[in-house]
Amino acid sequence: MTLDREAADRAATRAGYDAIAPAYAEHFRDELAGSPLDRAVLGAFAELVEGEVLEVGSGPGGVTAHLHGLGVRVRGVDLSPAMVELARREHPGIGFAVGDMAALDVADAALGGVVAWYSLIHVPAPELPAVLAEFRRVLAPGGRLLLAFQVGDDVSHHDEAFGHRVSLDFRRMQPDDVASLLGDAGFDVTARVVRAPEQTSLAAPVPQAALLARRRR
Ligand SMILES: C[S@@+](CC[C@H](N)C(=O)[O-])C[C@H]1O[C@@H](n2cnc3c(N)ncnc32)[C@H](O)[C@@H]1O
Repeated sequence: MTLDREAADRAATRAGYDAIAPAYAEHFRDELAGSPLDRAVLGAFAELVEGEVLEVGSGPGGVTAHLHGLGVRVRGVDLSPAMVELARREHPGIGFAVGDMAALDVADAALGGVVAWYSLIHVPAPELPAVLAEFRRVLAPGGRLLLAFQVGDDVSHHDEAFGHRVSLDFRRMQPDDVASLLGDAGFDVTARVVRAPEQTSLAAPVPQAALLARRRR
């Protein structure tokens, strides 16, 4: 993928989430409350992780706030300034900043954990190895990584969301493929949770996966 293409892709994702930020936050406000399995995965991550955690693609900050409530020292970073503004307003005790998960403003080995909760789904496949390498760079040896994504082989493109014109790609992935990329990037996968499709109001139901991994020492 050329740099122009990457920049255009990022700009479309940023503009899309800027447009839908308030509606997205409202729609997913009670998502975790209704998902015991997601809470279990996040709870396990919270117990395992040591040190500071960064949620990349934190959106309105609901997952960041949930981890904060579990006693995790956590902050969020998101491509969309509107999402960051909204997260700051809704969760004033937590730090949120605008940034790109492909080039994090974080020193090498500074973090105990990274969470990409339905945000890696916006990274084009050819860029995934570089993004995972960036996660590895910022994690201390033994640091924990948690990924959540929709399972599948296709890209679901949306020209409209919550009544706004957008151009958003949601890339589904196979857990085996992601696990293989994680291995290549220097991670050991320690757990996989795949849950059966559940009906949501947004899209045709697909299985959902969460992978826990650890940066090799
Ligand atoms: C589906 S939302 C998930 C938000 C949040 N993690 C949650 O579960 O509610 C995806 C988020 O990832 C952000 N995002 C997409 N690409 C990104 C990138 N390259 N760097 C940082 N954030 C990104 C979007 O702006 C959006 O807020």
